Amino acid sequence: GKGLAVLTSGGDSQGMNAAVRAVVRMGIYLGCKVYFIREGYQGMVDGGDNIQDANWASVSSIIHRGGTVIGSARCADFRKREGRLKAAYNLVNRGITNLVVIGGDGSLTGANLFRLEWSSLLDELAQNGKITPEQKQKYGVLHIAGMVGSIDNDFCGTDMTIGTDSALHRIIEAIDAIVSTAYSHQRTFIMEVMGRHCGYLPVVTGVISEADYVFCPESPPPYDWPEKLCNNYLAVVTALTSEADYVFIPEDPVPNDWQISLCEKLAQERSAGQRLNIIIVAEGAIDRDGKPITAEDVKKVVVEKLQQDTRITVLGHVQRGGNPSAFDRVLGCRMGAEAVLALMEATPDSVPCVVSLDGNQAIRVPLMECVERTKAVAQAMAEKNWELAVKLRGTS
Ligand code: F6P
Repeated sequence: GKGLAVLTSGGDSQGMNAAVRAVVRMGIYLGCKVYFIREGYQGMVDGGDNIQDANWASVSSIIHRGGTVIGSARCADFRKREGRLKAAYNLVNRGITNLVVIGGDGSLTGANLFRLEWSSLLDELAQNGKITPEQKQKYGVLHIAGMVGSIDNDFCGTDMTIGTDSALHRIIEAIDAIVSTAYSHQRTFIMEVMGRHCGYLPVVTGVISEADYVFCPESPPPYDWPEKLCNNYLAVVTALTSEADYVFIPEDPVPNDWQISLCEKLAQERSAGQRLNIIIVAEGAIDRDGKPITAEDVKKVVVEKLQQDTRITVLGHVQRGGNPSAFDRVLGCRMGAEAVLALMEATPDSVPCVVSLDGNQAIRVPLMECVERTKAVAQAMAEKNWELAVKLRGTS
């Protein structure tokens, strides 16, 4: 059978195990010889015990577990050609020419580069006598399929990345817990949530937690914001839920007079009889000049201007932990199976794909198209071109 390997790379996320399991079982079902690569790209570079046979039973009882049982890493060695040369040797030596990478955009970009370089890496290995001319001939094409595993939902080309839904569950459990103590003391709580430079987690958190104010790397919505949102899920959730007092859409930072509107909003809620306030601050929140807005900055404003009793809670890696939600388990299963099908159908000319969610369909999208689009959003934000950033996010 064909040699097929799966690895997880970058920050872990809930649902990665479901995806690994699906890859292994679909691969076996289709007659492949399947391998795990442990510790991400580092394991591929180091070889040895990091590349192990996978069988049906080895992925039993992992679907409900958070994180990734095969380990993950952010690998510096794989960024160098020397590291990729070692990785190529380790794959060819085991007859692996099909690779499933579960990770974020950096990991998927690395996978694409590896594929592009593959034949020159094999040339070098053959010249050095590390592999035989027959091996070079037989394993001459590397096929790659990607899946986006990340809690951030920051990848263009898919409606939901694996792990986002579970992270939202973690966040909302924490906020529900905070609300009872905030209520008792009539306090204001500032919650810092993850998401790197993407506003998805903070915005959706704001919507479903009745937060009074949300700081995300982006700004308040225009009238027609649902059409402009980065993906359908957020638009639908937000449209159905009107409890939030104030939300910011991605890619458009808060105006620089945010202190005024924040204080007005909080004061108005308290005078209407509300006993607490919740403010969501994205870890990547910025103002329109690109300057970070931290939870401490917000606290200072609230305490100085309103004298509200205020506390900060940083949710941190709790958001990435715990069991995956049903949604992420299903997503991992579907994407894993589709990735293997894509590999088995690949021809030497096919471009590597990312398995994405489009509405409720698992589809294949050219990997580099997604990576380029995701980079373009970052570029637009760096240039403070919020309108363009929203537009690019909107065409997933
Ligand atoms: O990309 C996932 C993520 O959790 C981000 O939300 C966060 O910015 C980052 O990873 C944290 O990275 P680390 O786990 O290396 O601290």
